[in-house]
Amino acid sequence: MMNEAMQKALNEQVNAEFYSSYFYLGMESYFQSLSLNGFASWMRSQVQEEMFHGMKIYDYIHERGGKAMLGAIDRPEQEWDSPLACFEQVLAHEKKVTDLINNLMDVAIGNRDHATKAFLDWFVSEQVEEEATVGTVVDKLRLIGDNSSALFLLDAELAKRVFTLPVN
Ligand code: FEO
Repeated sequence: MMNEAMQKALNEQVNAEFYSSYFYLGMESYFQSLSLNGFASWMRSQVQEEMFHGMKIYDYIHERGGKAMLGAIDRPEQEWDSPLACFEQVLAHEKKVTDLINNLMDVAIGNRDHATKAFLDWFVSEQVEEEATVGTVVDKLRLIGDNSSALFLLDAELAKRVFTLPVN
């Protein structure tokens, strides 16, 4: 059984992950409205991935004898000045999520909750991957600038991403 502080912190992260899913859905609609279907498809995979993250923590809380408490989810933005501005916001968001995961890890360590620490290790690695992937897209968009042919090539590349449920 987890202590109250750990359970509260994990519940806040469930909310943050579901907000992330909604945050990416706002971006999915932005890219659909631009007919950049590869970018939209990439965002839809991200929507599913964040939902998976939220459910992974939700299930863990119950597995440890707690109860997941569902909070309100804020309305996301749906307009940006450019694909680059949008992806810069993604990168800033993922850095914020990394901070949240690190804070959760601090609570687990402070409580000597080794089970939760082991559980959170997966999220620590996931955030390294998230930041690296998004950082690469931001770099490419900066190089692309106003070149629409290059933008369509990146759109085709991003269309290849398919979300598959991780095995563990
Ligand atoms: Fe759930 Fe994008 O981190």
